[in-house]
Amino acid sequence: MVSGIVKTGIVASVGVVVIVLSSTLGWILVPDIATSEAIITADNEAVFAAWSSPPVPVYIDFFLFNCTNCEDPTDQDVVLHLDQLGPFSFTEGRIKYGVIEENGLLTYRENITYFHTPGDGELGLDVEVVTVNPVYFTLASLISDLAPENLAAQLSTIMHNKLDEVDEKPFMKRTVREMLFDGWSLQPYIEILESFQNETGIDLPPLPEDPKFGFFYGRNGTNLGEFKIESGANGLDQLGFIRTWNGKESVDYWNDTYCNMINGTDGAIYPPLVDTSEKVYIFTPDLCRSVYATYERDVETEGIIGNRFTVPEIVFNTYDPENLCYCPDHKIDPDLCFSIGILDMRPCLFGAPVLLSTPHFFMGDERYVKAFTGLAPNKEWHETHFDLEPLLGVPIFASKRLQLNVDVRRYEVPPRLLNIKDTVFPILWINETAKLDQASAQDVNKAVNVIDALNISRWCFLAAGIALVCSWLRYARCFAIRW
Ligand SMILES: *[C@@H]1O[C@H](CO)[C@@H](O)[C@H](O)[C@H]1NC(C)=O
Ligand SMILES: *[C@@H]1O[C@H](CO)[C@@H](O)[C@H](O)[C@H]1NC(C)=O
Ligand SMILES: *[C@@H]1O[C@H](CO)[C@@H](O)[C@H](O)[C@H]1NC(C)=O
Ligand SMILES: *[C@@H]1O[C@H](CO)[C@@H](O)[C@H](O)[C@H]1NC(C)=O
Ligand SMILES: *[C@@H]1O[C@H](CO)[C@@H](O)[C@H](O)[C@H]1NC(C)=O
Ligand SMILES: *[C@@H]1O[C@H](CO)[C@@H](O)[C@H](O)[C@H]1NC(C)=O
Ligand SMILES: *[C@@H]1O[C@H](CO)[C@@H](O)[C@H](O)[C@H]1NC(C)=O
Ligand SMILES: *[C@@H]1O[C@H](CO)[C@@H](O)[C@H](O)[C@H]1NC(C)=O
Repeated sequence: MVSGIVKTGIVASVGVVVIVLSSTLGWILVPDIATSEAIITADNEAVFAAWSSPPVPVYIDFFLFNCTNCEDPTDQDVVLHLDQLGPFSFTEGRIKYGVIEENGLLTYRENITYFHTPGDGELGLDVEVVTVNPVYFTLASLISDLAPENLAAQLSTIMHNKLDEVDEKPFMKRTVREMLFDGWSLQPYIEILESFQNETGIDLPPLPEDPKFGFFYGRNGTNLGEFKIESGANGLDQLGFIRTWNGKESVDYWNDTYCNMINGTDGAIYPPLVDTSEKVYIFTPDLCRSVYATYERDVETEGIIGNRFTVPEIVFNTYDPENLCYCPDHKIDPDLCFSIGILDMRPCLFGAPVLLSTPHFFMGDERYVKAFTGLAPNKEWHETHFDLEPLLGVPIFASKRLQLNVDVRRYEVPPRLLNIKDTVFPILWINETAKLDQASAQDVNKAVNVIDALNISRWCFLAAGIALVCSWLRYARCFAIRW
């Protein structure tokens, strides 16, 4: 009998060891195996290569709004009609360069090149679009913001007349090519600005050296600044978090510590072991701010189940206390702020009256949609979302949708020259998407399968351990106490 007890004791201790092993190895090691490969370092060649020149193509589709009845903007009773043109499809080439690895941080820039890859039946880039003249309204807005009050109307009149002489009007007809990457000459405007400087002595904000304007002019083959991010070596739960952008830990556009925070990743990488109860933060230089997304549901792509995160309504809600600092005028008069769905970019675009929103003002204030005919917001087409593989945190599908608008008002231009209602005027929107290709999807699937196999075997270990311990417990009549 003695030897029997010893034997059972041994069996039990083996059981305890197995439990301990399965709970440490299993529950600690499995996530560890899942992720130890995730650290981005030059030693980890495959991961480094996939990060620095992603094999997944990024597509960007442009949709432009053609105003079909903007000929007479002075007739306030006409409801403007917008006709959506597009998509105009481009493919992005992204390469990170100048990478420096230091203390678990990676410093780099990312070169983005755009290639026109038209789809079947796509309109050429030479079709013409009628829309508001963003430069006219930028000048009008700058004059009303910067000129002394007694001079603003007079300067605005001079501006309007001088532009009229060179056939620059509040509305314009431009090709899609000019609107996007090629731009058009700003020479007439530069001359007017210079003459103002001579006449009034007002200091104008720094002007671009190359006098051209296009909404993506100068963007091809350039980068969006220097990023310093976590490689994962300091903790995989921080993988990809941006520590500094252009050498600074926060932006300085918003005159508020909270609104200036740089939070989260660049949107291309995320920490592994996705927690669907947490907010996922993203910072994009294009937005000049951090935003977040929350878990919505599971979605399958290429046979992989992903956790879909969407940007919730509250992020766009201008009236939410946490967003008030994005409207610097709020302290002066809340009515000076835009309603739900509009982000005024003046503070980060040298005062240019550009407004960002979701396409077709999806989730925004209805009044912006109703100001035109031809807009129809729709969740499927117009929301921003991304799907993360829950274990690895790899994005398997991402879609960023943004609309560029101009803050159209009379500003200080006399009504006899320009008689227009205050309007958030949509110019164009983008559908920027990335989808895991089949080969990468297979790799992700393999990795997930390995982790799943380990996950199952640890349950077996745990079960075996419990069985072993129980067999000893039963022998020792311990169970009797419980029953
Ligand atoms: C855009 O609208 C104008 C009328 O405002 C029209 O002349 C032009 O053909 C339209 N462009 C396209 C590409 O449909
Ligand atoms: C961007 O630059 C590349 C190479 O410099 C060129 O091939 C491509 O056509 C350009 N794209 C656009 C949209 O101009
Ligand atoms: C403004 O003044 C500068 C020098 O004072 C002169 O070179 C320039 O031609 C003037 N510009 C205009 C538009 O009068
Ligand atoms: C960025 O891409 C453009 C276009 O391909 C190229 O001309 C330029 O040299 C690249 N810059 C760097 C720093 O790689
Ligand atoms: C920035 O905020 C502070 C405190 O809220 C305020 O006193 C200051 O006037 C603001 N500066 C600007 C430029 O708005
Ligand atoms: C940044 O993240 C912190 C904590 O992670 C959060 O409290 C804060 O609200 C975020 N700020 C912004 C602007 O999203
Ligand atoms: C945006 O692009 C994705 C990928 O190309 C496509 O599946 C989707 O239909 C596009 N959305 C719209 C509204 O065109
Ligand atoms: C392991 O499997 C269990 C049940 O089968 C599941 O709930 C859990 O999410 C899995 N964990 C991992 C890390 O795969």
